[in-house]
Amino acid sequence: MIKIVTIVGARPQFVKAAAVSRVLRGHPGVKEILLHTGQHYDDQMSEIFFHEMQIPKPDVNLGVGSGPQGEQTGQMLSGIEKILIQEKPQWVLVYGDTNSTLAGALAAVKLHIPVAHVEAGLRSFNKAMPEEINRILTDHMSDLLLAPTKTAVEHLLLEGISVHSIRNVGDVMYDAALFYAPQAEKKSRILEGLSLTPKGFVLATVHRAENTDDPIILESLFQALNSISKDLPVVLPLHPRTRSSLEKLNIKKSLNSSFKMIDPVGYFDMIKLTQNARFVMTDSGGLQKEAFFYRTPCLTLRTETEWVELVDLGWNELVPPVSKEAIISKAQALMEKPTSSAKEASPYGKGQASVKVLDALLNIAQ
Ligand code: UD1
Repeated sequence: MIKIVTIVGARPQFVKAAAVSRVLRGHPGVKEILLHTGQHYDDQMSEIFFHEMQIPKPDVNLGVGSGPQGEQTGQMLSGIEKILIQEKPQWVLVYGDTNSTLAGALAAVKLHIPVAHVEAGLRSFNKAMPEEINRILTDHMSDLLLAPTKTAVEHLLLEGISVHSIRNVGDVMYDAALFYAPQAEKKSRILEGLSLTPKGFVLATVHRAENTDDPIILESLFQALNSISKDLPVVLPLHPRTRSSLEKLNIKKSLNSSFKMIDPVGYFDMIKLTQNARFVMTDSGGLQKEAFFYRTPCLTLRTETEWVELVDLGWNELVPPVSKEAIISKAQALMEKPTSSAKEASPYGKGQASVKVLDALLNIAQ
């Protein structure tokens, strides 16, 4: 029997863990302990995912909540350490690039517990992002690097990480997309609720610190989205971070009624919105891929992306949020000419990533 402590804390990690935990718990030789740091704590940011996706209830919730980077990460580190000392697992499994990822990996490595990192090897090459620091440090502390793509493997090799600890398993988010799409189809009523028609709206999300914490960028982004909504309704589930930055700007009053800002939505509604949007505009990493899984074109509101294959394939275009005019003109071009040049390919595997994660954990443990 191998004991694995899985660490999650933020919304995208619940989606990834949903796919992997199902496979881990289906194996008789594995005991998984799920630790939630509490980085995300609102019902719509956390509980709804556990409920809809039937993720097992966390065995431990540290309840760390929000705070400055150091304070948040430090509290997680100390809480995770206590649990690891108590549980003595064979593996600590961490996901992605959040502060919960970094804290989990650091707590484990200092206790000499092997770390497995799902979504290893992604790089934006922009160290101003907290996520980039979290990824680099986590990869260099990990014993098993579970990369989603060939490009990610190349990044790890270039940084001197041993080929023996790297596996290209594919993307666990693709597993989740395949598994949950039929349920979303049955259960989500979001289109009816918002009076939207298939391909008759744009889905937008904005939550990255680079975009929300700079008032000039945030204002130009929201003015651009507002202007686009005159041609095609824009639906934007609002992340709490963005909501509070917008309140400081006070621009909400001047927005069109076809610019629909709504509360954060669960996974099923998000699938339905992504599948049915004419295109997506986002600064999220996960949503860029989800758009591709459902073959919805995407404009990425950033200067770079970790998911470079999507740009190469023509499904994704980078639109740095520096000029309002540039954002509007890219969106208009996409409204007039959907991505006919986009190529078919499956750079994220075949939906078997979670099984490959389990295989790697079992094989390296032997
Ligand atoms: C975090 C991750 C980011 C990931 C994102 C997914 C880091 C450094 N960033 O960013 O990589 O893409 O999660 O959403 O780990 N808040 C609430 N309720 C919640 C959670 C957050 O109100 O349930 C508010 C708080 O005001 C908080 C702010 O959102 O201060 C930011 O939350 P935080 O977890 O620090 O980072 P995210 O922006 O969510």
